[in-house]
Amino acid sequence: MCGIIAYKGERNASEIVVQGLKKLEYRGYDSWGVAIKNKDILLRKEVGKITDFNEELPKSSLAIAHTRWATHGGVTKENAHPHFSCNKEVVIIHNGIVDNFQELKQKLSKDHKFVSETDTEIIAHLIESYLERGYEEAIFEAVKRIEGRYAILVIFRDSNKLIAARKGSPMIVGVEDGGYFIASDIPAFLGYTNKVMYIDDNEMVVIDDGIKFFNLDSRQEVQKRLIEIDWKTEEAEKEGYEHFMIKEIMEQKETIRKAINQDENKLLFIANKINNAFGTYLVGCGTAGKVCQTGEYFFSKIAGKHINFAFASEFTNYHRFLTKGGLMLTVSQSGETADVLEAIEVAKKKEVEVISLLNVFGSSMMRQSDFSFMINAGPEKAVASTKATTSQLALLMLLAYACANKLDEGKKLLIDTASKVNDMLNPRYEEHIRKLAEKIYNSENIYIIGRGANYPMALESAIKIQEVSYIHAEGFAAGELKHGPIALISEKTPCITLVANDENKKDILSNAMEVKARGGYIIGISPENNIIFDYWIKVPDVSDASPIVNIIPVQILAYHLAVLRGLDPDKPRNLAKSVTVK
Ligand code: M6R
Repeated sequence: MCGIIAYKGERNASEIVVQGLKKLEYRGYDSWGVAIKNKDILLRKEVGKITDFNEELPKSSLAIAHTRWATHGGVTKENAHPHFSCNKEVVIIHNGIVDNFQELKQKLSKDHKFVSETDTEIIAHLIESYLERGYEEAIFEAVKRIEGRYAILVIFRDSNKLIAARKGSPMIVGVEDGGYFIASDIPAFLGYTNKVMYIDDNEMVVIDDGIKFFNLDSRQEVQKRLIEIDWKTEEAEKEGYEHFMIKEIMEQKETIRKAINQDENKLLFIANKINNAFGTYLVGCGTAGKVCQTGEYFFSKIAGKHINFAFASEFTNYHRFLTKGGLMLTVSQSGETADVLEAIEVAKKKEVEVISLLNVFGSSMMRQSDFSFMINAGPEKAVASTKATTSQLALLMLLAYACANKLDEGKKLLIDTASKVNDMLNPRYEEHIRKLAEKIYNSENIYIIGRGANYPMALESAIKIQEVSYIHAEGFAAGELKHGPIALISEKTPCITLVANDENKKDILSNAMEVKARGGYIIGISPENNIIFDYWIKVPDVSDASPIVNIIPVQILAYHLAVLRGLDPDKPRNLAKSVTVK
C-alpha cells in the first residue's frame, strides 16, 4: 500500500518524482505529496489522485514523494505525506504501520507538536530528537524504537543526503549514471533504468556522493550487487489501451505460455519435495488465495495428492499442524502481501520449507522463500489481478503434472491452452461480452456458480466483479445453492455458470436449471451452448485446464461492467495493488 519514490542526481528530481508517483498510483490514491530540496524544503500535498496534476514544480536535484492509502488518520492534506519534524529539519515519507505509535506519541508529545493524525509523523519527530548524533545515527536510533513494518525515505533541511530504511515493506534502488532512484516498485523508474540494487529487510541506504548500505542492527556497511532486470518499459505502460486492466487481460495471449516456460529439472526437484513432504499447505490472499484453492483440485485430480489450502490471513490458526518436513507453497503476484509474509514467518519457525510462485523478482517473498518460481507475467499494474491469475493457475497445474510424473503431458495441455487463449482473445469476443455487460450493468446482484476446480473460480469471479464494478457478486459451489442461497434468486437475477467438459458437467447444468426455474438469467461460460443458457460465452475445451479459460471472460465482463458504470477499473475505491499491512 502507498507508493513511494525518491530521486537524487543530475536530472530534475521534482519532475521525476511526480511522474514516478503517476506510475505508482495503483498502490494508493487517496492523497499525495512531494518534498523538494533546494535551499529550503518545499512541501506540496493534495487530497485525491495525482493523475491530472500538471503544474511545474521548482527544479531540484533531490526530491521524495508519496501516494497514500490511508491507515492512520483520515484522508486530509494534513495527513498526506511527507511530514516535517517540529523544527522542519527532517522530512519523511513512510509506507507501513508503526504498531507502537500511541506509546511513542505519548512519550514525544512533551517536547514535540504534532500536526497530523498519522503514525508516520512520529518517525520525523523521533529522528529529530536524535539529530545531534548525526544523520545516520539519528535514523539508527529512531528505527530501533519503531515496532511494525516500514519503508521510510528521509531528507534533511541542512544536508543533501537521501536516507532510506526498510523492514517488511518493499523498497528498491534504481541506478543510472549520474543518479539514484529509490521506490516501492520498479515501474516507478523503469523508464530511466533497469539496473537495480535490492534493499534487504533491516537495512539502511545512504545516498550522498555515492551509495552505501548498512545493517540496521550491527550498523556495519553491507556490500551490494547491481542486478539487471528484464522488464521492459512498454510492459508498464498502457500502450494505447484505455486502462491497464484490459491491456493486462489481453496480454494473456502471451503470458500463459511464458508462465510454463520453466526449468524442468527445477520443476521435478520441487515436485519431488512435494511428493515426499510431511504435509503441504497452499497459502495466498484474495485472488492468489483462490488460485491456491484451485490448486487443491489440480493436485488432487492430476497427482492424487491431498494438499491443504489456507488463506494467509488465517494461517496462524493452523500452525499447530505444521511440522518439520512439511512444505508451504505460497502464491503471490507482488511478493509483498503482509499476511503471506507473516504466514512464511510462522512456517519458518516450524522449520517448514517455503516455495513461492511470484511475479515480482527480488520481492520480500522471494528473498524469504527457500525456492521460488517466477510466473513471468511482466508488471501487473491494475489493482484487479488478471494475467497473473492465469499464469499462477498454469504454473500450479504444471507442478501438479510434475508431481504425477507426467510433465510432458501437462506441458502439451498447457501449450494447447495458451494457443487457444490466443485465438479466443480477439475484438469480436470482447464485443460479445461487452454486449452482455450492457444487459446486466444495472443489476443489484450477480451470482456465479461452479463445481470442482471451477468452484474457486466462481469465488474469484465474484472478487473480480465486486472490486471493479462495485456490484454485489457472490460465488457458490453450485451444489450448495439448494441448501440456502437459492432463496436469493428472483426474476432476471444474473447467474454466471462456469461449465467444463468434465465429470461435473451434468450436475452443474442441473444446478443452472434449478436457478432458471426460479426466474434466474443464466449466463453460460462453456465450450458448448445449451438450451438452458440465456446468454452463451464460448470458451475452448481444454479439459482439466478449464479454470484458466473460464475466468478470462469474467475478467472481461467485470472490466466492461466497471466502464459502463462510469468507474475507473484500474483504481477501485478503498483498494491498493499490494496489501502490505495486516
Ligand atoms: O500480490 P498478491 O498476489 O499477494 O495479492 C493478493 C491479493 O491482495 C490480490 O490478489 C487482490 O485480491 C486483488 N486485488 C484481486 O484482484
